[in-house]
Amino acid sequence: MLTFLLVIFLTGLYFYIKSIYTYWPRNGFDDIDATFPFGNLDSVRKGLKSFGCAIQDLYNATSSPIVGIYLFFRPALLIRDSEIVKNIFTKDFNNFHDRGIYVDENDQLSESLFALEGTKWKALRSKLAPSFSSGKIKGMFLASEMVGKQMEIYLNSIIPDDKNEKKVIDVKDVTYRYAADIIASTIFGIETNSFKDKTNEFFMIKDKINENTFFNKLLGMALFLCPQIVKFIPKFIINSNPARKFMVKIVKETIDFREKNNFVRKDLMQSLIQLRNTGKINIDDNIWDVETAAENLKSMTIEQCAAQAFLFYIAGLETSASTLAFLLYELAQNEEIYLKLEKNINETLEKHNGQITYDSIQEMSYLELCINETMRKYPGLPVLNRICTEDYKIETENVIIKKGTPIIISLLGMHRDETYFPEPLKFLPERFLEDQKNYNESAYMPFGDGPRHCIAIRLGKINVKLGAVMILRKFNIEAIEKKEIEFDNYSVALMPKGGINLKLSKK
Ligand code: HEM
Ligand SMILES: *[C@@H]1O[C@H](CO)[C@@H](O)[C@H](O)[C@H]1NC(C)=O
Ligand SMILES: *[C@@H]1O[C@H](CO)[C@@H](O)[C@H](O)[C@H]1NC(C)=O
Ligand SMILES: *[C@@H]1O[C@H](CO)[C@@H](O)[C@H](O)[C@H]1NC(C)=O
Ligand SMILES: *[C@@H]1O[C@H](CO)[C@@H](O)[C@H](O)[C@H]1NC(C)=O
Ligand SMILES: *[C@@H]1O[C@H](CO)[C@@H](O)[C@H](O)[C@H]1NC(C)=O
Repeated sequence: MLTFLLVIFLTGLYFYIKSIYTYWPRNGFDDIDATFPFGNLDSVRKGLKSFGCAIQDLYNATSSPIVGIYLFFRPALLIRDSEIVKNIFTKDFNNFHDRGIYVDENDQLSESLFALEGTKWKALRSKLAPSFSSGKIKGMFLASEMVGKQMEIYLNSIIPDDKNEKKVIDVKDVTYRYAADIIASTIFGIETNSFKDKTNEFFMIKDKINENTFFNKLLGMALFLCPQIVKFIPKFIINSNPARKFMVKIVKETIDFREKNNFVRKDLMQSLIQLRNTGKINIDDNIWDVETAAENLKSMTIEQCAAQAFLFYIAGLETSASTLAFLLYELAQNEEIYLKLEKNINETLEKHNGQITYDSIQEMSYLELCINETMRKYPGLPVLNRICTEDYKIETENVIIKKGTPIIISLLGMHRDETYFPEPLKFLPERFLEDQKNYNESAYMPFGDGPRHCIAIRLGKINVKLGAVMILRKFNIEAIEKKEIEFDNYSVALMPKGGINLKLSKK
């Protein structure tokens, strides 16, 4: 009898899940054939492709402006047309103001700017904005430069003095350490030297976050695919990840120390402390100190501050480190561009008496083109997403997107689509020149677009540029072979398979 019921139940479940895969045709949309039970993400489940590359495959599998897909068992819409994407991000933001990933007010660590929704997101976004002003970023520049010097000292120590001798180095490892130390210093206000102390706790968090355990992968997917169900999981399980615990610990220690001792440092933590104690961040970029408020008058808890700091770590580390590493790789592959950039850096520095400053770096116009092209070919976040928060009609397609529908954008797919960017695999910084513009501007969005675009564009860019200048000024880089980078089969970001190995020598 029991067996019989079980068979009925499983058969029912089977047909139910199968019926999910006809959701889009039943609702008037084209879709991409999906297989039971992993939908269009079988290659991710099998470990053959990373999420970003699997979504690019779907992007390439069709030429429709909008197409229905199935993320495992969840129907979503993949938008391929850049004008429609632009409208969703900007003009019609009110219909798509959330990302629809897990966030729960009973779990303050989940309340990061990235995940928050509606008015809560809006309030925090406008409060945090002043901490990313150019004045504040300039205030942090010295700290970044010190990390750049640490990197230079390290490279000097491992590369032979003989200028003709080259050493093969995984530059992704180097840029990881550079980016982590900068985040430690300019965001958390702690000084680390990951070039010397190679396994320091702060640096090693990245491995804990990406830990490739079954549980971690399952939770990571659940946060994105079924956030409503995650709300019922006890919080201590969600927050059992050692990386989270460590984050809360250091944020608590730092805030307690500064509040007790009126200690002031020019970093993002200081802005969070201002916000926590006064309800706002000072718009005057010269005022960093703050009067500590009584416990019951504080506007943010330690956990809510930690949620932002943790997000900044995740959002800033991989993106900055990989952009810098991919740039170096492309320079080594394209000698002419490399020489042009070297000349641009030399000449600008000469004009500024050899001083590397925020302003001298901003003046390097060819560097800007190179960075833009790097982020075109290798977007730091290969996939963007939103959730439809109010029914939305697309006139040109004569379809209605229903409230609650997840929206997926393959930034990697768009950035490598020849209809938007001719010769997409070629590294052509000049394509961004005003008078040679040969790309579709609406399809270029390395930092997203609209009110919910990356809050730290200036910070991200200046640190990548500084890293490039610090390396290119003192060292020569050379490719090992002429080759396109292959992407590894894990992570959300684009991971170069086997790292990024280049030959470095002293100038
Ligand atoms: C080169 C470096 C970076 C790249 C390429 C990058 C890219 C992005 C992208 C594509 C988004 C999503 C935008 C959207 O959905 O429209 C985003 C969001 C975000 N990024 Fe960045 N990012 C970088 C550096 C940073 C850094 C250094 C920080 C923090 C200090 C940061 C903090 C954030 C935050 C908080 C959000 C969420 C904004 C919101 O939802 O209101 N990013 N970033
Ligand atoms: C994923 O890639 C790694 C190498 O980067 C490889 O060792 C592993 O076998 C791959 N996984 C699968 C399931 O193919
Ligand atoms: C850019 O692409 C969009 C979407 O395909 C298209 O509507 C628009 O006309 C294109 N713009 C240019 C300048 O080609
Ligand atoms: C830039 O200056 C360095 C020395 O500081 C020199 O070795 C290099 O050849 C110069 N590069 C160009 C393209 O002018
Ligand atoms: C998708 O198509 C573009 C060219 O349109 C190509 O560069 C890219 O390699 C293709 N990606 C995949 C994963 O097939
Ligand atoms: C580089 O890209 C950004 C968008 O990320 C854009 O605002 C800027 O104008 C671009 N620079 C050039 C020189 O095209």
